[in-house]
Amino acid sequence: MGNLKSPDNNNKYEFLISTPEGTRDRLWDECAVRREKESAMTKLFAERGYREVSTPVLEYYDLFTQAQNPIAQETMVKIVGRDGRLLVLRPDCTTPIARIVATRLDDIPQRLYYAQSVFRLAAHSRGENCETGQCGVELFGVSGFDGDVEIVSLAIDALIAAGTEHFYLELGGLAIAELEAVRSALGDAGDKYVRLEPGLTQDIEYYTGLVFRAYAEGAGKAILAGGRYDKLTGDFGRDVPAVGFAVYVDEILKNKSKKSSERLKIAVTKGRLLEDTIALFKRLGLNEPESLLVKNDRRLVHDVPDSNISLVLAKAADVITYVEHGVCELGIVGRDTILEQGGDFSELYDLGFGKCRFALAGRIGSDPGEVATIASKYPNVARTYFISKGRDVDIIKIDGSVELAPLLGLADAIVDIVSTGGTLKANGLTVLDDICDISARLIANPAAMRLRKSEIERFVNRVVSAETDA
Ligand code: PRP
Repeated sequence: MGNLKSPDNNNKYEFLISTPEGTRDRLWDECAVRREKESAMTKLFAERGYREVSTPVLEYYDLFTQAQNPIAQETMVKIVGRDGRLLVLRPDCTTPIARIVATRLDDIPQRLYYAQSVFRLAAHSRGENCETGQCGVELFGVSGFDGDVEIVSLAIDALIAAGTEHFYLELGGLAIAELEAVRSALGDAGDKYVRLEPGLTQDIEYYTGLVFRAYAEGAGKAILAGGRYDKLTGDFGRDVPAVGFAVYVDEILKNKSKKSSERLKIAVTKGRLLEDTIALFKRLGLNEPESLLVKNDRRLVHDVPDSNISLVLAKAADVITYVEHGVCELGIVGRDTILEQGGDFSELYDLGFGKCRFALAGRIGSDPGEVATIASKYPNVARTYFISKGRDVDIIKIDGSVELAPLLGLADAIVDIVSTGGTLKANGLTVLDDICDISARLIANPAAMRLRKSEIERFVNRVVSAETDA
């Protein structure tokens, strides 16, 4: 291939100087820190009697779509093998290890650990990595309480060994008395690091009892997840009780302690929601929220006087991005953006303002059953709507003033937000079908909801009572 930048290759291979989306090169210090943390954890695992296993990077696709362990197929990186079978890059470490134990290891109990990558296709341009490092353990053949305590204790010690600061572990999945028993068996570590959340669930469905997750300052997502999965080896013909966890190495690398005085950052949507948002802040008694509206004030972060709150001005889609990554704890954003963009955040409260609706609109007299080409700023919403109608249409993404598309003959109809209906009327268009109602929502980063629980609860309670009084 020669020099990628040489002029004589016509820049045909220019894309090769970058890596595929969701992947990147890692250099020097980052490698060293990662290795140091992994080594600290694997050393601990070995000291506790766990032995290392490693599983293939390539696995059969069907392994991860069984009833016990359905991983969303669109998140798996697929390859067709020479025999025509579908293969995937390993999306999970536990299932292949359950296969090893069920099919190759007669002696029970088995204490196993691993440090390897998992691969999941990440959402477009969301800063998610496709390849993430996991360092974890699996304990096979020790059922119930004893196994649960051994693993939770090891999870806490692994995070300490990796130098994780200000973390805590949530336990759930059992009745409250059983969770209490696990916590008290952990002694001081239980008091210091464990919180009970009986309603906790995990994304992966093979868990059958105790589940747990850990959060730490600086990481917007869970840094560790685990639980009991007594039925997974049954898929390979042998029932062995099991419990384990994985530390998400990329997330613990983001861990840094915050000062307790750090401000609560609320991302606020610019544009149509801003005036109502400021009115809400006034009802809450926040000082000078109008500063957000001062013309020519180019500041994007406004510290609210006499409070620990900072308001961050952002475009709607970016409000979700900042909250999802945990750099803002809370956000105020329309349900239109939530439905279009999705994301990993918690929707806390319907603020009741910014009310409008999603609608299918077109020329007066158009038959909604006949429209075939749709223009929209919200292609995902449009696609979901037409799927729900059992219809297949072409969708063209338009960034604004979408009413132009049917006027100019680019599309038969639009999927858009309608508030007063004035824009449709002025352009000779009308609502052909209502899709759903929209209003502003208060959203939160899931990790922040745990790490700054009392501050966020206080703020939400203020919002709820201000809205109830209004
Ligand atoms: C929105 C929407 C419609 C209009 C509807 O556009 O896309 O065009 O408001 O409001 P109405 O029913 O009260 O007339 P927005 O003003 O956000 O700008 P955009 O067209 O650039 O998206």
